[in-house]
Amino acid sequence: MELKGRVAVVTGSSSGIGFELCGLLLDRGAAVFGLSRRRTGIDHAAFRWLKADVSRREEVDRAFDTVLGNRDWVDLLVNNAGFGAFGEVESLDPGTWERLIATNLTGAFHCTRRVVPGMKAARSGTIVNVSSIAGKRGFRGGSAYCASKFGLNGFSEALMEELREYGIRVSSVNPGSTGTEFFEHAGIEPKNMMNAGEVASFILSMIELPDDMLPDQVVLRPL
Ligand SMILES: NC(=O)c1ccc[n+]([C@@H]2O[C@H](COP(=O)([O-])OP(=O)(O)OC[C@H]3O[C@@H](n4cnc5c(N)ncnc54)[C@H](OP(=O)(O)O)[C@@H]3O)[C@@H](O)[C@H]2O)c1
Repeated sequence: MELKGRVAVVTGSSSGIGFELCGLLLDRGAAVFGLSRRRTGIDHAAFRWLKADVSRREEVDRAFDTVLGNRDWVDLLVNNAGFGAFGEVESLDPGTWERLIATNLTGAFHCTRRVVPGMKAARSGTIVNVSSIAGKRGFRGGSAYCASKFGLNGFSEALMEELREYGIRVSSVNPGSTGTEFFEHAGIEPKNMMNAGEVASFILSMIELPDDMLPDQVVLRPL
């Protein structure tokens, strides 16, 4: 996809991979809407921050009413908002489980359902779901996070089959450990981490592939 003049929505824009990706999309000449709960500190004429908790349908709908206020469709949606919570299953707080699924999985559904009608009518568009290696392989202490990311990969794969005949590309990117605020909240610290800007530029390179190429489920690991 050629990004100049295109309209993109990135969820989880206030830090980490989403923040870096917003900057790269703006550098390429896209107009970018960033959704997050905290303000996204990007000062650029083509950027607009919209406050939204993606786990809350009414907040997502309000944000997309603004995005779609004077256009019929968006060209790119990146479902990136997410967080991790880890621990043996009996120690997991049920409220945390619900918030994790509501954010990492249901949030992507809330956003996707608002962009698909316009993309179908335009017969083009790209949706990238930022999942995780934890969405490909379960590990000890990761039951909640893995469930949310396996779910996101299932959502993504089904959507890919549903939308490719409309010229809409749906991809899922599954990064390994990346140095972001994620680990400040998650309470675990991995040994090897990738750089958030470099992970974002990998996602950018997927988005920029020719429109007739569809990267399906891509895994990206630290060496
Ligand atoms: N870091 C890693 O090792 C790693 C590896 C694989 C996959 N991932 C995935 O990559 C994505 C980005 O994470 P990151 O590593 O860049 O972490 P991060 O720096 O903590 O960024 C997470 C972003 O998601 C937003 N977010 C969280 N909950 C939200 C909600 N309910 N509504 C709206 N926005 C919300 C945060 O914004 P607010 O707090 O302002 O709302 C923030 O902008 C996540 O989906 C994560 O699961 C990360």
